[in-house]
Amino acid sequence: MSQIHINLPTKRLLILSDLHLDKAQASYKAKFLNTLQKSDFDAVLITGDVSVAATLTEHLIKIAEVCGNRPVIITTGNHDYYGSSLREVDQGITDLCANQANLIALGRGEIIKLSRTTALLGHRGWYDGLAGSGKKTRVESPDRFLIEDFRGMGRTDFFRKLNSLGMESADYFRRLLPQALSRYQRVLVATHVPPFTQGVRYDGKGCVWNRQPYFANRSLGNLIWGISKRFPDRQIQVHAGHTHSATSVRIRQNLFLEVAGARPGKPIIGNFLHIS
Ligand SMILES: [Fe+2]
Ligand SMILES: [Fe+2]
Repeated sequence: MSQIHINLPTKRLLILSDLHLDKAQASYKAKFLNTLQKSDFDAVLITGDVSVAATLTEHLIKIAEVCGNRPVIITTGNHDYYGSSLREVDQGITDLCANQANLIALGRGEIIKLSRTTALLGHRGWYDGLAGSGKKTRVESPDRFLIEDFRGMGRTDFFRKLNSLGMESADYFRRLLPQALSRYQRVLVATHVPPFTQGVRYDGKGCVWNRQPYFANRSLGNLIWGISKRFPDRQIQVHAGHTHSATSVRIRQNLFLEVAGARPGKPIIGNFLHIS
C-alpha cells in the first residue's frame, strides 16, 4: 500500500460520528444539515455510521454539498454496510470520492497534514470479537445477518472473520502510524470502533462482559499501545464512535481516546477540535 500525502490546512476540525441519518425524520435531517452548513469549521471528520448502504451515497452527497468547499473526511462504520457487502460499499465510496471533490475516504493510505505539527490517519476498523467474553458471549450481533460478508456463517467462522477484520485495521496502522509519528508531533487516528475497552460504555454505563466483543477492537488497541511506547515524545489521539456513549480517556501519558456520543434519529453537531 502506497502512502497518499494530502495537505489540508485546518484550524478548526469538527468531529461527527454515528449520524444514522437513515433513522432520522426529514425535519431532524434538515435541521442537522442546516446547522452543519452554518457551523464554523475548516474541515469535518466523520467516524462512521452515517447511514445504511442503500442511502449512504445520498447522505454523503448531502453532507458534502452543505459543507461547500470544506473537506469532509470519513471512515465507514458497520451500519454503513447494512444491506450490502464490505467490498461493494467500499467501492461505492471510492467512486463517490472521485466525483465529489471535497469528500475524502480514509483507509487507502492517506496521511493528511492538518498543520505543521498535526496529521490525521484513519481506517474504519472493526470490533474484533476479542474483548470481554469473546466468542463465548451470549449476545448476538445484528451485523451477522445484515452484512452479506457474514451471512450464513456459523459462530466460529463469524468470530474468525471478526478477528481478521480487527487485524486488517491493525496492519494498516502498523504501516502508517510510525511514518506519521516520525514527522508530526500529534497524530489523530480516526476509526469507528474504540480500540481500548477503557473507552467502551453502553447506554452511558459500563459495558457488560457479553457485549464487549462487539464494542472494541483490541487488535488495534494493542498495536497503538505498542507504537505509543516507541514514540514517547509524540501524542496520539484516537477518535472513535460506535458505542454512542461519549467518553474521553487518557490511556497512557501520550495516548488519548475520544469516543463520540450519539442518539440515532437525532443527529447532532459534535465537538470542535482546535488544531495548532
Ligand atoms: Fe452507530
Ligand atoms: Fe457502529
